[in-house]
Amino acid sequence: MHYKIYRLSTIHSTFHPRSTTQPTMPESLEQETVSAQEAPEFAAAQFVRWFRDVAPYVHAFRGKTFVVAFGGELVQANALNDLVQDLSLLSALGIRLVLVHGSRPQVNEQLRLKGFHAQFDRGRAPMDADALECAKEAAGEIRLDIEAAFSQGLPNTPMSHAQIRVISGNFVTARPTGIIDGVDYGHTGTVRKIDIDALRFAIERGSIVLLSPLGFSPTGEAFNLAFEELATSVATALRAEKLIFLTESPGVINADGTVATELARLDADALLASGTLPEDTAFYLQFASRAVKRGVTRAHLIPFAMDGVVLLEIFTHDGVGTMVVEDTLDDLRPATIDDVGAILQLIEPLEADGTLLPRGRAIIERDVENFTVLEHDGVIYGCATLHDYPADAMAEMGCLIVHSEWQGTGEGEMLLRHMESRARALGAKRFFVLTTRTSHWFLKRGFVQGGVADLPKEKQAHYNRSRNSLIFIKRL
Ligand SMILES: CC(C)(COP(=O)(O)OP(=O)(O)OC[C@H]1O[C@@H](n2cnc3c(N)ncnc32)[C@H](O)[C@@H]1OP(=O)(O)O)[C@@H](O)C(=O)NCCC(=O)NCCS
Repeated sequence: MHYKIYRLSTIHSTFHPRSTTQPTMPESLEQETVSAQEAPEFAAAQFVRWFRDVAPYVHAFRGKTFVVAFGGELVQANALNDLVQDLSLLSALGIRLVLVHGSRPQVNEQLRLKGFHAQFDRGRAPMDADALECAKEAAGEIRLDIEAAFSQGLPNTPMSHAQIRVISGNFVTARPTGIIDGVDYGHTGTVRKIDIDALRFAIERGSIVLLSPLGFSPTGEAFNLAFEELATSVATALRAEKLIFLTESPGVINADGTVATELARLDADALLASGTLPEDTAFYLQFASRAVKRGVTRAHLIPFAMDGVVLLEIFTHDGVGTMVVEDTLDDLRPATIDDVGAILQLIEPLEADGTLLPRGRAIIERDVENFTVLEHDGVIYGCATLHDYPADAMAEMGCLIVHSEWQGTGEGEMLLRHMESRARALGAKRFFVLTTRTSHWFLKRGFVQGGVADLPKEKQAHYNRSRNSLIFIKRL
C-alpha cells in the first residue's frame, strides 16, 4: 500500500519575509509516493511542523474581524464550497467574519433569460425596475447557496461538527445614486449607513454575517450596490483587521512577473495613478487603498482560483496575493509590555537548549523597554535587547533572535544594524555581545574577539565565568 504525500516545503518558503517569488500553492505541491513504512513518520513530522508554524497567526487573529468579499464569478467558478469550508475553519479559530458577495454575472444571466438587453459590469450603471428584480433574484439565490454551503456537516468532511450560524438582514441603509449629468441612475444606490451595533452583536456571538449587494432606503425601496463599495464601507466602519477581496486576478504583478506580496498604501496609490495596472487589478486596488486609508489594518487581493487561497494568505508569512498596508511591514519597533508573551515564546526554546541564559518573565517585563522587536502582520518573529554603559561609552546587544522559520533572509543582520545605530545614538563607541554558539556569525559581521577586561567595569563584575561565553566587540 502507498500513501500520497504532499510536501509542505513550498509552504515553508512562503514564511520568508523577503521572498518575492510567487508561491504557487497548492497546484505546485510536490506530490510523491512514499512507501507505507516511511509514510506515517514523514507525514506526522510534516504535520506537526506545519501546525506549529501557523500557531502564531492563530493567536494573533483570534477575536479579530475580517471582511471577506467576492463576486458572483467565484460562485460561477464552483469555488464556493471550498471557500466556505476554509471560512468555517477561520470562524472556529475565533476570527469574526463578515462576508459580502457580489452577483453581477448572475444578474446579467437573469436579464438575458428574461430577454432584457441591459448588462452590468463593474462601472456604475443605471438600473431600472426590471433589472432590480433580476438583482434581487440573483442575490437571493446566491445567499441561499452560501447558507446551504455553511450548513453542511457530513462526517469525514472539513465541515463535520461545524455548526455555523449565518445571519443576513437589513444591516445596510442605501440612498439612490440619483441623477448624474442628466442620467437618472434609478435603483442603483450607494451605502448611506451600516447598522454596526447589530453587525457587531452578531459577529461577537460567533455568527457569520452575510451581506448581499442590496441596501434599503427609509422609503422602503431596495437599491443595488457595488459589493466592493459595500465591503469597503463595512470593513471601515468595523475597523476590521482585514478586508480580503477574492478576485479573478492574482494581485499586483511586479515587472519581473512575480506577485507584489506587500504594498504600502502610498505605493499602491502611485501605481493606480500611473495607469499601468490591468483594469481588474486597478479596480480592486482602489478599494483596498481606500479601506487602509480609512483605518482597516490590511487589505488583500487574492485569486479565488487558487484552492485554499484564504488560508494561504492568512497563515503564511508572505501570503499568495497582494496585501496593502498603511506602512511597509517587517517593522522594527520598540517592544511594549504587550509583547512580553511573544518575546518569551521566542526565547524559551533557546533557553531550553542552552543558547541563551534563562531570564524568566519577570526580568523580561522589567527590561521590556530595552527590547526591539521584528513584527510582521501582527506576529513577532525576532527581537534583540540593548544595554547601555555610558561611563565606558559601550553598549551591549543581547537576546538577538530571529524565529527559526524566518532565519537566513537577512533579518538578523537588519536587527544588528538597527541595534548598532541605536547604540551610536546613545553615544556608544564600542558595541559588544556575549555568545556561546554564534561566534562565526558575529565575526563575519566585523566583530573581533575580546576578553573580560575589555568589558565595561559593571559588566565585568557580573560576567558568568562558568558559562564561559565568548566576547565579541565592534567599534562603532
Ligand atoms: C543568529 C541569528 C539571529 C541570525 O539571524 P538570521 O536572520 O538567520 O541572520 P541573517 O539572515 O542575517 O544571516 C544568515 C547567515 O548566518 C548564518 N548563521 C546563522 N546562525 C549562525 C551561527 N550560529 N553561527 C554562524 N553562522 C550562523 C547562516 O548560515 C546564514 O549564512 P549564509 O548567509 O552564509 O547562508 C539567528 O540564527 C538566531 O536567532 N539564532 C538563534 C539565537 C542565537 O543564537 N542568537 C545569538 C545570541 S548571542
